[in-house]
Amino acid sequence: MFHKGVFGALVACLIAFYYLVVEQRGEQSLYTTSEAVRTEIETVFLETWRDYSSNGWPYDVYSPLGHSKRNMPPSGDPMGWIIVDALDSMFMMYNSSSVHKNELLKGILEAQVWIDNELSYEIDAEVNIFETTIRMLGGLLSAHYYASELRIGNPRVYLRKAVDLCDRLALAFEKSESGIPYSSVNLQTGEAIKNHVDDGASSTAEFTTLQMEFKYLSYLTGNSTYWKLAENVYPALYKENDLLDRYHGLAPIYTYPDSGRFMGQNIRFGSRGDSFYEYLLKQYLLTHEKLYYDLYRQSMEGMKAFLVSQSSPSKFAYIGEKPHGLMNALDPKMDHLVCFMGGLLAMGATEGQNINKARRSLSWNSQKEEDWRLAQDLTHTCYQMYHQSPSGLAPEIVVFNDGRAIPDNAWLSPSGDFYVKPADRHNLQRPETVESIMFLYHLTKDDKYRQWGYEIFSSFANNTCEFSADSQKLYLSLKDCIDLPTVKSDNIESFWLAETLKYLHLLFQDDVDLTRVVFNTEAHPFPTFEPERMRELGLRTGWSP
Ligand SMILES: *[C@@H]1O[C@H](CO)[C@@H](O)[C@H](O)[C@H]1NC(C)=O
Ligand SMILES: *[C@@H]1O[C@H](CO)[C@@H](O)[C@H](O)[C@H]1NC(C)=O
Ligand SMILES: *[C@@H]1O[C@H](CO)[C@@H](O)[C@H](O)[C@H]1NC(C)=O
Repeated sequence: MFHKGVFGALVACLIAFYYLVVEQRGEQSLYTTSEAVRTEIETVFLETWRDYSSNGWPYDVYSPLGHSKRNMPPSGDPMGWIIVDALDSMFMMYNSSSVHKNELLKGILEAQVWIDNELSYEIDAEVNIFETTIRMLGGLLSAHYYASELRIGNPRVYLRKAVDLCDRLALAFEKSESGIPYSSVNLQTGEAIKNHVDDGASSTAEFTTLQMEFKYLSYLTGNSTYWKLAENVYPALYKENDLLDRYHGLAPIYTYPDSGRFMGQNIRFGSRGDSFYEYLLKQYLLTHEKLYYDLYRQSMEGMKAFLVSQSSPSKFAYIGEKPHGLMNALDPKMDHLVCFMGGLLAMGATEGQNINKARRSLSWNSQKEEDWRLAQDLTHTCYQMYHQSPSGLAPEIVVFNDGRAIPDNAWLSPSGDFYVKPADRHNLQRPETVESIMFLYHLTKDDKYRQWGYEIFSSFANNTCEFSADSQKLYLSLKDCIDLPTVKSDNIESFWLAETLKYLHLLFQDDVDLTRVVFNTEAHPFPTFEPERMRELGLRTGWSP
């Protein structure tokens, strides 16, 4: 018996040794060290930034190959679309960079000088309040946060501009009786303007994605008007539509601003729907107002009941669409935009704590466990959208295989789980998948997520890159990410700098505390609010559904 026991223990040790040492070594890491990867990401960021500062500055829209450029309102002066959006990525990279500190600091200070001396919102042009809020107001507020924390330059420059901008955006709320703003405003005249198409209806995700920015500005300035305006979009939305009972918390993508009523029955987590759900949870994470967690909870239960499905043959989890209302068929189409949901569900379950710690907390329950599993499954699905593509880059939209016939002109993924229609083969260097991968990594510390992130980063670096006439590297959107070599389009999106490269860099940082900051939908981080200061300023939830 004794000898057998020793023998057994010896065998067990050998097996353990094999798995610990031999297997682990056999599985080769794609990257060397996290610091080396951060440097690679900074290099790609700075290559893009250098080209923009020499050839595109200070225009809002820029084509790196043809050097054509224009402003966001084509008739007006620049709004800093690229400069303001990219700025906090430079602060963030600067804070942990080992090689590029000087160049990043130079970029930060040049941007600050331009914002201080040149940027003016006295522009006689109509701007979309959602895009302007998430990119410009969000970018100014997070620049203010970083400049204060890291003591670089003058943080007040950014706050002053943020107040000026938000006072103009606030005028979009003026004409509507429901509390829901019109979709645009003329920055100079203050005229609120309805959406020119869709029968004047606003996108539901647009007016429900101003709340973090407006509330943070109230928190910083003590002026509660911004908070109240942003919050006041919800009573009509929930009550006029019976959103919780009739719609299970799942909002159709268009709303008439005057009545607060939905237009049509199209429900999806892709474009025009996505960040309605995101800002319910993120308001809770930022301000700890319990109401928004409850609303988020009900929407997530609705989503799990009506929209989540699995592909054939590999059972990849996905979130489909209900174009004709909840009681009609599920369309198995998913925008790349939906890929933020892995990270959101993971943050909703853990509130930014490591999963092992979160599971031990008293508030852990079966709904959170279900959300957590779905978070991992959706992130895996979104990774597969890159991994299976010939360029290693995901298309704008995929359709999952639900057993129905696959169109002849579609590209079918090698595993057979999803296909891509000819019109959906473009890639805009979007952030949502690396965003979810970043959250899952820091909540688990599972190196698998860094391997996925590095694979995607390398594909961006290799397959969105083109050389300029003077042999500089340019990174571009793609018209087609399926055929190799990839077909480039002469365009960069500001979210390549503001979001995609920022989330990749965060993935390879080693001490990221996700309980302390909340990222707006354009990846601009705001610090979580102190309950004491909220009380002092009288900032609190002013409605109930
Ligand atoms: C800057 O980096 C340090 C060290 O990694 C980190 O602890 C700190 O939170 C960072 N600051 C900000 C504002 O992100
Ligand atoms: C607070 O903000 C509102 C909305 O822009 C503005 O009209 C008002 O003048 C501000 N109040 C103060 C005291 O600055
Ligand atoms: C990208 O290019 C590098 C160097 O040319 C190569 O080592 C790497 O395998 C490529 N990565 C991908 C994902 O194609």
